Amino acid sequence: MTGRRPAGVLIAASILDSDLGALGDEIRRAEAAGADRIHLDVMDGHFVPNLTFGWKTIEAVRRVTTLPFDAHLMIAEPGRWTEQFLDAGCDSITFHVEVAAPQVGPALARIREAGRSAGLSVKPGTPLAALDAYRAMLDIVLVMTVEPGFGGQSFMRDVAKAKLAAARAWLDPAGANEVQVDGGGRAETCEVIGRAGTDVIVAGSALYRAADMTAEVERIRSLAGAARAATIQA
Ligand code: DX5
Ligand code: ZN
Repeated sequence: MTGRRPAGVLIAASILDSDLGALGDEIRRAEAAGADRIHLDVMDGHFVPNLTFGWKTIEAVRRVTTLPFDAHLMIAEPGRWTEQFLDAGCDSITFHVEVAAPQVGPALARIREAGRSAGLSVKPGTPLAALDAYRAMLDIVLVMTVEPGFGGQSFMRDVAKAKLAAARAWLDPAGANEVQVDGGGRAETCEVIGRAGTDVIVAGSALYRAADMTAEVERIRSLAGAARAATIQA
């Protein structure tokens, strides 16, 4: 389960745009650069118009790092494959609230029963109200600030402003839970993210296309952290 909220902002490195031919090395590179977690984007070519990898790949790279594995399932039937992603060693599993509803509650319950963190994600066009029925079951709310499917897209600032602070206020503020933002997280966008009280920034292209990944992790963490701390003190 996710621990109590730390003071700073955590950085989850998305390996979507890394060199997938050397995935183990790319994960080690993110760890060496100071990333707090590895974010794994699973796509089925159906829920989103792209295909990536599944639990076998996650299982294969689980041993290369001790960093938490944060799975983001962009698949139509997360309820059908929950067990496999748990067995593969995911520490948290987040899927989309837009999938067929009957599987949502049981899948969240199963993830928690296994002692992992359970999350739901909302696409840019989906209101936070879609999460209302699941509030008591959530460790993570993942707010998408791009349309899911591809890395390197432009950050949707309006979506961030409309949803991040609202999600943070909506989740039990005293609970051990977190708001994550995914899509377009980088130095230029992380102040608005931090100001909203966001707990975790998923960053893909900003890290894997950076000349110096360590410097980039540090830059995003400190800019977002300062913006978040200023809000908390205000
Ligand atoms: C998009 C994925 C993201 C993606 C983020 O569907 O969920 O995790 O890798 O990539 P950037 O940081 O490049 O927007
Ligand atoms: Zn993602």
